[in-house]
Amino acid sequence: EKGGYDYFMLKEIAEQPKAVADTLLGRIDASGSLTLDEVRISASELREVDKVVIVACGTAFHAGMIAKYAIEHWTRIPCEVELASEFRYRDPILDGRSLVIAISQSGETMDTLMALRHAREQGSKVLAICNTNGSTIPRESDAVLYTHAGPEVAVASTKAFLTQLVACYLVALYLGQVRGTKWGDEIGAVIRDLSHISGEVERVLETMEPVRALARSLADKNTVLFLGRHVGYPVALEGALKLKELAYMHAEGFAAGELKHGPIALIEDDLPVVVVVPSPRGRSVLHDKIVSNIQEIRARGARTIVIAEEGDEAVVPYADHLIRIPATPTLLQPLVATVPLQVFACELATARGNEVDQPRNLAKSVTVE
Ligand code: M6R
Repeated sequence: EKGGYDYFMLKEIAEQPKAVADTLLGRIDASGSLTLDEVRISASELREVDKVVIVACGTAFHAGMIAKYAIEHWTRIPCEVELASEFRYRDPILDGRSLVIAISQSGETMDTLMALRHAREQGSKVLAICNTNGSTIPRESDAVLYTHAGPEVAVASTKAFLTQLVACYLVALYLGQVRGTKWGDEIGAVIRDLSHISGEVERVLETMEPVRALARSLADKNTVLFLGRHVGYPVALEGALKLKELAYMHAEGFAAGELKHGPIALIEDDLPVVVVVPSPRGRSVLHDKIVSNIQEIRARGARTIVIAEEGDEAVVPYADHLIRIPATPTLLQPLVATVPLQVFACELATARGNEVDQPRNLAKSVTVE
């Protein structure tokens, strides 16, 4: 049932192009409009929404962090994202005009379920983004947009994450479509790029051998740091989470701009630091800033592992290891930038002799608070 792979995780990483394509299937029509009929919250209610609040845990929370950038940029609706386990304990401000999005692969995560129950008690509508048909979270929500990743068996989430991102982009674009905000050339281009993105994920998968070799060479390290900016920041957090779960290594993700406020003190000779570099096209200021961050850490001895778009030459002089990903619009970059980090963590876990599909102390769905 592992389809010839040693681990479910490897199989699920390989299934990502299909999972992404399946999650898009039937949701974009020939004219490039979105048809999310499953979202049974009326267009008039969606037009009234004055705040979006996303609740989730773990990897799904990282998808939510990325969704915030997309929702605010494409719809101009303020969006908050919060760990489900923290949400209801701080007495959040919610009402009938708040749209709460609960993201969960399993649909059974207790913290997320309790957060959505709290939101509904305040009169908010809840939209679930979920991978498991008929599970508790979609059953208790007002509407659900299913991700079509297929069953995810490995404890470490991979294909579910990519499909959660796709679902989040679809929701963001749909909100924009319904409300008529920013529905211009940019959105049309994004929809076109999204419909080709599974091919780009496939291309990334075809170039992963050097990433595996690099991972094996780092098997005796104790710490790996991950840096990103903008949507690359949640990608850095996700890369660090994968490494903690699978390799049992100290791994931390930082917003690269925060380095100088403390974390740069951690940099020492030969410390591996993975940097997710935003596209040099588009928001080029972000790119320039991260290139300086790479220079800063390298000058202090870090071994830089740079994930950058094809054609980005500015990073070359400062990259001890360079991992290329296809050019994508900035907001969509997490779909391709996360894949090498999954492969990296999986290979490191294997090299360290760890159980990949069933890491110690973890369960696939966390049904206790
Ligand atoms: O089933 P869910 O998406 O609600 O699960 C949330 C987290 O428990 C989950 O993403 C966890 O962080 C994964 N093990 C990460 O790989």
